[in-house]
Amino acid sequence: MNSLPKINLERLQATIDTMAGIGAKDNGGCCRISLTDEDKLGRDQFVTWCREAGCSVHVDAFGNIFAIRAGSRLDSSVVLTGSHLDTQPNGGRLDGIYGVLAGLEVIRTLNDHNICTERAIAVVNWTNEEGARFSPGLTGSSGYAGDLDLSFARAIVAPDGARFGDELARIGYAGTFSRRALDPIAYVELHIEQGPVLEQYERTIGVVEGVQGVRWYDVELQGSDRHAGTTPMAARQDSFMALARITQSMRQEVLSIDPEIRFTVGRVSVKPGSPNTVPGFSSFSIDLRHQSAGLLDRIENVLAAKAHVIGVEEGVETTMRRTMVVPPIEFDTCIVETVAAITQSVGYPAMRMTSGAMHDACRLSKVAPTGMIFVPSRLGISHHEDEWTAPDDLAAGANVLLRTLVSLADQSVNQRGATAPEDDRNVPSQSLGH
Ligand code: GLV
Ligand code: MN
Ligand code: MN
Repeated sequence: MNSLPKINLERLQATIDTMAGIGAKDNGGCCRISLTDEDKLGRDQFVTWCREAGCSVHVDAFGNIFAIRAGSRLDSSVVLTGSHLDTQPNGGRLDGIYGVLAGLEVIRTLNDHNICTERAIAVVNWTNEEGARFSPGLTGSSGYAGDLDLSFARAIVAPDGARFGDELARIGYAGTFSRRALDPIAYVELHIEQGPVLEQYERTIGVVEGVQGVRWYDVELQGSDRHAGTTPMAARQDSFMALARITQSMRQEVLSIDPEIRFTVGRVSVKPGSPNTVPGFSSFSIDLRHQSAGLLDRIENVLAAKAHVIGVEEGVETTMRRTMVVPPIEFDTCIVETVAAITQSVGYPAMRMTSGAMHDACRLSKVAPTGMIFVPSRLGISHHEDEWTAPDDLAAGANVLLRTLVSLADQSVNQRGATAPEDDRNVPSQSLGH
């Protein structure tokens, strides 16, 4: 493994910079929201780079892009890597992008050194991971994993009124590639941590053992539009005042159950949106996260009850609908141990951890043995233009990815999937520290 070459950091950084120029924002961040014109430009650029690197490029019906570097075997087995090129509205330049472009850098490095792997390696750009425009997120990877119907996905309507299926066709990325054309023996996703833990513990690599569970909800509050000057306060069915009370009280309640919970209201809509009309309709989103599915179940019931009780007090009708469930995930032990062993063999300080953010890897873990590699995020900042990772850490993550992908692509496969290389097995986990 150590005889493998290192990736070219300058080239990786230049590639990230070019991608960050598409949808660039004034403060160094990026706005390339899924299926917008900027997303199309970013995809086109990625496809051009992949073709230049000698990959065959395919697009499936969810708009996922697969760039395949052939192996010496002529079968359909493949080691997958990748992440997403779409961003948050005020996104950084690394969330998702780093994983996709580091995958491309791995392929370029293998090309530079004429290294042929036994199995093919494919880099994937999954569609709409973020869910910032079309909800639920993880759309492309969910579709690929068989967790989301194509007809359901195509009908998703964004708050801007656009339909997922129409936008996919408009930007030219409604493809026909069949997922049965590939037989993934492993999926490994490289990502920035997006939290403060690696920096705090001064570790370069996070060996990701799993991901906490995520649930999204839409809550709608139906009151009644009234004149703001003539309607006495006690006679109102004010959907916004109900929303304000409900969200505050939900936050208090979930924190009292477990301070480790993550509870976010990130989107609010108030209608008709006129200063002198009592708003008759309001809605809000909830993003709820925890490592225990049981606790998420319990909290879900508590939230629904809160919304109902306060809704009745305020005279508004409430409905709460689940829009996404990503169960807590434990990654494949063989992949986790492979990443741990390779990280140790190249000498990067590492630790095992659980991801607070969700990832396409959550969906892929249903399809193939899956694992993730993290690198530090400065101050733990993400979903913000200040997102930043030290260049040496970007290189370290990509080097671990290179070695992991080659190791998996060249290894024999047992019934559960890819095995760790013989030399690297049984590395004591405590050596990676906590
Ligand atoms: C990913 O962007 C997440 O919401 O965790
Ligand atoms: Mn991401
Ligand atoms: Mn994100």
